Amino acid sequence: MRRKPVVLVTGANGEVGHGLVFALHKANQYDVLALDLREPDPEIRDLCVATIVGDVLDKHLLDRLVSEYEIHAIFHLAALLSTRAEFTPETAHAVNVEGTLNLLKLAVEQSRWHGETVKFLFPSSIAVYGLPDLTTKTETGRVSENQWTLPTTMYGCNKLYCEQLGRYYSDHYRQLAVEDETHGGVDFRAIRFPGLISAFTVPSGGTSDYVPEMIHAAAKGEAYDCFVREDARITFMAMPDAIKALLDLMAADASKLSGRVYNIGAFNPSAGEFAHLVKQHFPQADINFKPDLKRQGIVDTWPADVYDFRARDDWGFAPEYDLERTMTEYLIPNVTKRYA
Ligand code: SER
Repeated sequence: MRRKPVVLVTGANGEVGHGLVFALHKANQYDVLALDLREPDPEIRDLCVATIVGDVLDKHLLDRLVSEYEIHAIFHLAALLSTRAEFTPETAHAVNVEGTLNLLKLAVEQSRWHGETVKFLFPSSIAVYGLPDLTTKTETGRVSENQWTLPTTMYGCNKLYCEQLGRYYSDHYRQLAVEDETHGGVDFRAIRFPGLISAFTVPSGGTSDYVPEMIHAAAKGEAYDCFVREDARITFMAMPDAIKALLDLMAADASKLSGRVYNIGAFNPSAGEFAHLVKQHFPQADINFKPDLKRQGIVDTWPADVYDFRARDDWGFAPEYDLERTMTEYLIPNVTKRYA
C-alpha cells in the first residue's frame, strides 16, 4: 500500500499559513496536508488533500500522520508569538521548542521511510535579536545574522534555539551511531522574518502587530491606539514577499546555500511614518499613540533594519513590494474591498 506524498504545513490556519497554502495550491506541485489547532477556514480546507485539527505536541497524532502520509517537505509554522508567549512562557517553550523537536523527528522518520531528504522550512524571526538599549539600536542600524543574538523574549529564545536544533538535525544527528545516519535526512532552512503585513488576515499575539492593526482599523473606520511610540522602527514586509521567500528558499539548490538561517527585509518605516501613510489613504483614520511601555521595550530590542545580502546572493531574494507598492497595490485595494 502506497502512502500519499504530501507537503505538511503546521499552523496552516495562521497568517503565513493562509498565504502559503494558497501559493502551494497555485504552484500545483504538491498536495498539502494541513495541521492546525483550530479547524482551518473553509477556503484553506478546500485547497488541501486533508486538514487535521490537532496539536504539534501530540506525538500520537504525529505518529498517525506517518502511517498515512509520505511527507516530503515540512513548513513548520505553528508557534506562539512574542507578546502572547510572555504571558505563558513555559507553554510557549513547549509549543515553540518541543513542537519543533517533534516535527524534526518526524522529518527524520519520514526520510528513513522514503529515502529522500525532507526539506524543513522554518520561520524564524527578528525576535532572535536583542539590542541592549536604544542608543545601541540607533548606532547599530542594520544587523547581520551573527550579531546581537541576545533575545529578551521567550519567543526570541525559542526561535534562536530551534535554528540550532535544525542545524543539528541536518548536519550532526546521532553523530556517534555506527551506521552513517548523519546526512540525507533533514534539510533545515530558516528565514528570520521581519514584521509581516497581510491584507487578508489580522495577526494576533505578536509585538510587530501595530502596523497591520493600524491599517486594518483604518479600513474598518475604527479608532486605533498604537502601542508603540511614533519613532519605533523595525523592518516589515508584505505577506506575498514572505510567502515567495519561503517557496524560493525551498526551491534553492542546496549547493548554493552558505548557511541554514537567513535575514530578509523589505522596508522599515517608523510607526509614525506608517501612520502618516495610512492617513494619506484613509484621511478619516483616527490613530493615537499610546505606548505600552513593556511592549515598546520589546520593539526597542529588535533591530531597526537587517542586512539580507546573504539571502540575495545565495537564493536570489529580492522583495517585489517596497513600502509604496505595498500600500498602493496590495494593502489599500484589498483592505478596502475586505471591509466595504
Ligand atoms: N511578528 C512576530 C511577533 O511580533 C515576530 O516574529 O511576535
